[in-house]
Amino acid sequence: MAKTEVGPADNVPETLQALAHPGLLLVSLDRRGRPNVMTIGWGSVGIYWGQPILVVPVRKSRYTYRCLETTRDFTVNALPRKLADLATFCGTVSGRDHDKFAEADLTPSPSLRVKSPIIEECLLHYECEVVHVNDLVPKSLAASMLGSAYPQGDYHRFFFGQILAVRAEENLRRRL
Ligand SMILES: Cc1cc2nc3c(=O)[nH]c(=O)nc-3n(C[C@H](O)[C@H](O)[C@H](O)COP(=O)(O)O)c2cc1C
Repeated sequence: MAKTEVGPADNVPETLQALAHPGLLLVSLDRRGRPNVMTIGWGSVGIYWGQPILVVPVRKSRYTYRCLETTRDFTVNALPRKLADLATFCGTVSGRDHDKFAEADLTPSPSLRVKSPIIEECLLHYECEVVHVNDLVPKSLAASMLGSAYPQGDYHRFFFGQILAVRAEENLRRRL
């Protein structure tokens, strides 16, 4: 597959579309250096501190939460449409007791600028280094959202990742 390095803002509409459906795949390393992948359906691409930043919200119950605290970098990857079902798989089982890369037949491949790998089968890859974290403040959130998103109090930590590299497949739009 022909992938080229592109700018951080070159594929924002495609990224938000994939985030909404089927979800994007967030990859980090556990403390033993094994890659783990989980699905995210929320997040944003923007500019903070004059830098391109991708923000990913990860609940404290996720194995990925521990991985991000250890590795302090991550990749975010967009699946081709034909593999969209894998977003459900990666978003319903945990890396605590599953090797999701092996079970989903996904290939971890070296990133250009971070330790966490990209997913070879995906079409778009963001490589990010954690530069800031921010915990949700329950009393500052609208009551309607607090009730619907956090009935058990499993709050998000927002990981702000400086985007250090983005690679995209040439025919990305047709295959997402
Ligand atoms: C479509 C979809 C979107 C999801 N979005 C998020 C998200 O934005 N943040 C989050 O913490 N969990 C989200 N999840 C749940 C995690 O992906 C799920 O709990 C996963 O099994 C965690 O894996 P881990 O324990 O290996 O980290 C989502 C799941 C699905 C299916």
